Amino acid sequence: MNVSTLSWIDGDSQNGFCRMVEQTLLPAEFIEIDVKTVPDMVDAIWRLAVRGAPAIGVAAGYGMLLGVQAEAGRDRDDLMAHIQGTSETLAKARPTAVNLFWALDRMVRRAKVDFEAGADSAGLVAGLFEEAKAIHTEDAAQCRRMGELGAELIQDGMALLTHCNAGALATGGMGTALAPMYVAHEQGKKIAVFADETRPLLQGARLTTWELMQAGIDVTLITDNMAARVMMEGKIDAVIVGSDRIARNGDVCNKIGTYGVAVLAKYHNIPFYVVAPRSTIDTAVVTGADIPIEERPAEEITEGYGKRTAPAEAKVYAPAFDVTPAELVTAIVTEAGIIESPTTEKVLEMMGRPKLGS
Ligand code: MRU
Repeated sequence: MNVSTLSWIDGDSQNGFCRMVEQTLLPAEFIEIDVKTVPDMVDAIWRLAVRGAPAIGVAAGYGMLLGVQAEAGRDRDDLMAHIQGTSETLAKARPTAVNLFWALDRMVRRAKVDFEAGADSAGLVAGLFEEAKAIHTEDAAQCRRMGELGAELIQDGMALLTHCNAGALATGGMGTALAPMYVAHEQGKKIAVFADETRPLLQGARLTTWELMQAGIDVTLITDNMAARVMMEGKIDAVIVGSDRIARNGDVCNKIGTYGVAVLAKYHNIPFYVVAPRSTIDTAVVTGADIPIEERPAEEITEGYGKRTAPAEAKVYAPAFDVTPAELVTAIVTEAGIIESPTTEKVLEMMGRPKLGS
């Protein structure tokens, strides 16, 4: 049983709220926080209390609901304008993970469909509740399917390297990159995982190592600059990572440091797999060069998690993501199938496949 990183508490659309694991405190403390307003949801996403592309998408759906749940008394035209405004507020939380914008668009589209069908304000709120829950449930099912497909790439006895955290903490289900590991483990395959620490916010050390240990999977923590050495020693059979946005040509944006790992994997002839739902593929983006890269505060590098490690006035450059060119990607595992050696044609073909469960 994987950790559930966020959920909607209290059942109904009018009085519920979002409960989430406060990921910034892991692994020292496991506490959950209750998010009840849109500004608090924006803050939770920006602070990385909830993080990881699919989980941000699920949080955005619930954030929309928080924005409208007390508004069913408004007239329906006014409510539609408010729904649009709430979406624009939530969209400012973080720039790179496309799942945020994908989920917000989906929520606004749902409201428009219900509005055109004549729904009153209470009906609009009820529709958004249904849609937010559907985003969450579908994400969990997609994680499981990606896990099953990805597990076919994992042989008994393999050692895998991952970067950042793309597990249950990062999704509404069992994870993206970690899902094949969980399924392989369930299938009785013996696997070993090397987790990159993932400077500067240590998602690999704090979250992936914790999560895999909870699941009883053999995990070894390394610092980011050890990956080359570990590969040279022949200890890695495959790299598996998640993604925050995939361009339509197959370029993969993920946590800063992923590109370096991909280059190393190529040099050492190690397959480099990306596991991500199709909600992470942004067909409006032609290549990775067009993906907005978040920059984080300098303090996350100069004094992150503890004492100061650089002069107070040090000039800092802090991109939080990088882009791995498609040519370095062995395959992208989605819930609808595996894209080997991704190209624009193959990505668009995968996007055209039916929705899971339909
Ligand atoms: O800054 P974060 O922690 O939100 O970055 C997360 C990642 O880069 C993950 O690898 C990515 O979102 C895939 S999550 C399933």
